[in-house]
Amino acid sequence: MGHHLTRSDMSAPLAKLQRIPDGVGSVSDYEQLARERVTPQVWSYFEGGAADELTLRDNLSAFQRTKLKPRILQPLSGGSTAIDLFGARLPFPVLLAPVAYQRMLHDEGELGTAIGASANQVPMVVSTQASTTLEDIAGVATCPLWFQLYMQPDRDFTIALVRRAERAGYRALVVTVDAPVQGIRNREQRAGFAFPDGIEAVNLRGARLPPPHEGRVGSPALLDSPLLAAAPSWDDLARLRAMTQLPVLLKGILTTPDADRAIAEGFDGIVVSNHGGRTLDTLPATLAVLPDIADAVAGRVPILLDGGIRRGSDVFKALALGARAVLIGRPFIYGLAAAGALGVAHVLHILRAELENTMVLAGCADIGGISREFIANG
Ligand code: FNR
Ligand code: LAC
Repeated sequence: MGHHLTRSDMSAPLAKLQRIPDGVGSVSDYEQLARERVTPQVWSYFEGGAADELTLRDNLSAFQRTKLKPRILQPLSGGSTAIDLFGARLPFPVLLAPVAYQRMLHDEGELGTAIGASANQVPMVVSTQASTTLEDIAGVATCPLWFQLYMQPDRDFTIALVRRAERAGYRALVVTVDAPVQGIRNREQRAGFAFPDGIEAVNLRGARLPPPHEGRVGSPALLDSPLLAAAPSWDDLARLRAMTQLPVLLKGILTTPDADRAIAEGFDGIVVSNHGGRTLDTLPATLAVLPDIADAVAGRVPILLDGGIRRGSDVFKALALGARAVLIGRPFIYGLAAAGALGVAHVLHILRAELENTMVLAGCADIGGISREFIANG
């Protein structure tokens, strides 16, 4: 991308390739490894959810409760996991969700994630609150990059961010609409989490007003604070939609009226998401609300889903209930914390292999054939 890499830039990730212990073969194995390799404070930030973490747990249990209904003796050869999404062919229907501040987990940070995604040609959605500049990530990535946008109180700065992403070759915008403020983070409080020195939302340098999600809720007078006066509205989103040619998706939709409105306002896709259980606790599991939203959307735009994907069979279930593709957050974070770029690449490889295994054993060798017929209780 015209970004000149110096020798030391290049050697940093490669010099730190870590060995993955024998026997590590699932996302939960990576979760254990990751937990051993970061401090309890950093773990509380990445692993935790809001308040009592009921939504965080529900995301997982919704997949565990949902059972598959296999068909025997189906034709299985010549199938494929590939999908088309916004004009791009993806090798399998998984993307990396936007996750803030990845340099807290591993020195490679977002660059390691981008390299791991590139090894699998999986799109990476880069967070507005990344700890690496969006241009530096574009400098190492050979996978498609999408940019996750938090509308900033400084609207001119927001536009400048979009233009930077366009210039750096990002192919879609994902506007997160479920977090005008951060959720209640009791686990972080108990652990005494604070951002370490040197970790910063570098893409937001130069903004005139601080990003809202860094403000702590729970202090008095939230409702009449300037923070909320600057919270994004549908009008702001319509202006954003009008100012870029890129596909724009809204992330954080959980109801059919909001899905309908997003489509009516010209957005190109929606992400059914409860922010991995990190914003409002007791929101429903994403898998639980997906079928109704899929019925209402009726194929007008692609539906993506995130929250609780830990197995290839979970990807299959989400597709069966109406998602075109899924995003994973914590699973790749475990890989990054455990082994940098190599860990991210391996986690993606594991999920792809598990998805293929599920397809074959359920009797459905093509993504297009995955339907509600394969869900026992759907
Ligand atoms: C997130 N998520 C998130 N979302 C977003 O739009 N912008 C962001 O900067 C972040 N940051 C972030 C940090 C951490 C530590 C986590 C765990 C999550 C939410 C993320 O994109 C996604 O919605 C969830 O992670 C999906 O749930 P799973 O896969 O983690 O269960
Ligand atoms: C979070 C914000 C950064 O989930 O989206 O921590």
